[in-house]
Amino acid sequence: MEPTAKKPRILSGVQPSGKLHLGNYFGAIKQHIELQEQAECFYFIANYHAQTTMRDLADKMSAEQNRKFKAADLLRQNTIDVALDYLALGLDPDKAVFYRQSDVPEVTELAWVLATVTNMGLLERAVSYKEKVDKGIEASVGLFTYPILMAADILIVRSNVVPVGKDQVQHLEMTADIAGKFNRAFEKNVFPIPTYRLDKESKVPGTDGQKMSKSYGNTIDIFAEGKPLEKTVMSIKTDSTPMGQPLDPAPCNVFALYSLLATDGEKTVLADMYRTGKTGFGGAKKMLKEKIDAYFTPFRAKRKELAVRPDTVEDILRDGARRARIETQRTMETVYKATGLR
Ligand code: ADP
Ligand code: TRP
Repeated sequence: MEPTAKKPRILSGVQPSGKLHLGNYFGAIKQHIELQEQAECFYFIANYHAQTTMRDLADKMSAEQNRKFKAADLLRQNTIDVALDYLALGLDPDKAVFYRQSDVPEVTELAWVLATVTNMGLLERAVSYKEKVDKGIEASVGLFTYPILMAADILIVRSNVVPVGKDQVQHLEMTADIAGKFNRAFEKNVFPIPTYRLDKESKVPGTDGQKMSKSYGNTIDIFAEGKPLEKTVMSIKTDSTPMGQPLDPAPCNVFALYSLLATDGEKTVLADMYRTGKTGFGGAKKMLKEKIDAYFTPFRAKRKELAVRPDTVEDILRDGARRARIETQRTMETVYKATGLR
């Protein structure tokens, strides 16, 4: 009999940088949650990464809302919020190892070791650093060396596959480069070379038709409900075809969002209603809001239930870190040996 193939090890991280939206859900989270059934998954909240932009975010929010936001409070709150979101959306801590990055100190320890084999030129080519600095974020050393910390996240648990969005591909290429350089430098195969897996829905449209993103202010939050959700859905941009005229579903943002939530049969029904003029955009938006409610109501209930049990969430994250550290300490042992640190 063939030996059973070992399940691939999958890892991904999410920055705690604000409320998660439908783009994050259909672009990333939904797949992360499905993967926990098929592979050995490690998911973590990248709070060290978020530190590179948290003071900037606090300043921005303070200016917009005319009250003082402190970076430390914001990081703490956003971290818990992301944990609640993932757990409510179906992350099962018995299946996936779920932790907070800063609870696993081997990550930053490895980041130093990797920094000593990382070429300055490699970091200088990073697009994401330049984009963030162009947006006005402080050009800190931490922001510059962000890709090394990300390589450490991935290599510390010896992951094989990293599901990410397109914007993270360069970071994955850098990780593969750093891992190869380390293995060659110390003549040991300490790190498997990881590959990336592109998220399926690469462009969920926002309320203005551009890609949904926090930075464009066009998001529909996963856990919005009631009046605020209604207001957001009603604000989705459409063309100005008058009521009763046939509509084309293909370029319509409302139809695109509805399609993410509906069955094939439901999509055909709405498409026919568009083409025969049986619905205007207002009616379609109402159907979209109902679909969002139907899809997310059970998740909302779960989130509310968890939110009143902060100790449970804390216990889940601590236990995740404990399980992650079995692997991260094992990796560090081989790193100490390979490099002569011990
Ligand atoms: P934002 O653009 O709101 O800051 P992030 O960059 O934090 O979102 O995205 C986290 C992950 O969510 C990305 O790697 C990507 O896979 C996914 N994602 C974000 N926005 C979208 C979108 N509009 N469509 C599809 N996937 C998205
Ligand atoms: N850089 C990723 C983002 O901004 C988050 C992240 C940090 C990550 N470490 C990671 C993703 C490791 C995958 C693997 O979305």
